[in-house]
Amino acid sequence: MIDLQRYLSAAQKAQAVISQVLDSRPGTSSEYIQGWVLRGTPQNDVIFYAVLDASRIPQPEPFARATHQISSALGGQRVYWGNSTGFRFAVVLTPAKRLPRQIELPTNLPAGRAMIGLRPDGQAAGGKWGDLKHIIVVGYTGSGKSVTTRSLVYQAIRQDFNLVLADLDGTTFPMLADHPSLLAPLANTTDEFIEVLRLALGELEHRSSLYKRAANYPEKIEEYNQWAAANGQEPLKRVLIALDEFNSAVTKTGGPDGKLGKLAVEIASRGRKFGITLLLSAQDFSKEVIGAVRDEVGVIVAHKVNSENVARNVGVAAAAQISERTPGRAITNRWGQIQAFYLDKSHLLTSTQPSDGITPEERAIAEKAKAETNGKISREVLMGWGLGQGEARRLLYAWETRGWAVKDPMRANATFLSPKLLELLTNPPTQPTPTNWLPTLPAQLPTQPTGSLSAGAAD
Ligand SMILES: Nc1ncnc2c1ncn2[C@@H]1O[C@H](COP(=O)(O)OP(=O)(O)OP(=O)(O)O)[C@@H](O)[C@H]1O
Ligand SMILES: [Mg+2]
Repeated sequence: MIDLQRYLSAAQKAQAVISQVLDSRPGTSSEYIQGWVLRGTPQNDVIFYAVLDASRIPQPEPFARATHQISSALGGQRVYWGNSTGFRFAVVLTPAKRLPRQIELPTNLPAGRAMIGLRPDGQAAGGKWGDLKHIIVVGYTGSGKSVTTRSLVYQAIRQDFNLVLADLDGTTFPMLADHPSLLAPLANTTDEFIEVLRLALGELEHRSSLYKRAANYPEKIEEYNQWAAANGQEPLKRVLIALDEFNSAVTKTGGPDGKLGKLAVEIASRGRKFGITLLLSAQDFSKEVIGAVRDEVGVIVAHKVNSENVARNVGVAAAAQISERTPGRAITNRWGQIQAFYLDKSHLLTSTQPSDGITPEERAIAEKAKAETNGKISREVLMGWGLGQGEARRLLYAWETRGWAVKDPMRANATFLSPKLLELLTNPPTQPTPTNWLPTLPAQLPTQPTGSLSAGAAD
């Protein structure tokens, strides 16, 4: 039996915060709160509900959008918006189920997405590259910036992106110095930072001129590529520009109005349309530096930072409170607290593919070949299925190197799926998400909201 009295002061705080937030935002108001309920769940969680009057709310969406602000104002406490049986906010007052200290980056990553980590409820934090806009990773030394940054670069490589990499201290990306996906040489000095961003801007201008030829007025890379596919043009690859030590590099080159700052801001503001994502990492971000790009940034991953000031600059106040003993732990602007995925850098060193991993895309292609061409694959076959010429070439090369595709002298030396790959296909796809520590979410709306804050019986 849970002692709800112990949670009364936490509930009062949540009550005040919810009211304040709703009164401060456009389209919401605490006036629409019909009642407050505190109750326990069979799983021993204590949940505080703000129940809204569904019949009077003009628009539910502005309320739903306030969820994150409420959670932030409560120091990252878990807050959910529910609309299945009426409208309400649910604040989980019991401490979050502990996130594991280490969660390996899953091997079967979804295509077209960047996955950053897991939330305490087991949900993944991540999304489509285009929706995430640009990404900021901040954190004190040893907090996990480089691991998070490398995990995103690794995912980009796996998804056949072009890369631009810059790293002032030379320790984050040395293993990628000769990577074939690099659009420009790895940058290690501020002059080289500027140089690679110039090249990236050139690529952006090139894409801009290509877009002008496309008849469908593309606004995103997917739209351009649709047109390209229908008109016999090479599709464009997404580009990830990962700049480590970004704040120092900008500060050393004259701040946001210096050469580097200006280039970064221009790429940030124009790049998204052309499939160009900036990934900016640093130990801190000055107000000026972050201010120059803030509107273009969709995701802030704040690992442990060393001052309240830094935490405030990036707008994720709770990041100063993260323990030093949990590298990889982060507070994000979109998903609250997460444990960022761990990726050993050896994965970047040797190859872009874990030794036994088959991606869902690769599996789909192999299954298709099994079903439609008797296992035969060639560049033409793959391009017929919608892969670009470069992608098809790379896939064939990768599969041959891994022994997944072999030439068959008995069949005109054409290339076929190897027995090794056919064997792999019989294994079920691996599940990326551990489930043994999932907490239970508030299941349903309490039936009888009370007019004032009261402790109901735990059921
Ligand atoms: N996501 C993670 N999960 C578990 N452990 C992690 C994670 N990220 C980092 N670590 C641990 O913390 C160590 C330091 O991480 P990392 O090198 O990414 O720090 P950093 O923030 O880049 O530091 P610096 O500013 O000194 O470069 C790693 O070697 C690893 O042991
Ligand atoms: Mg580092």
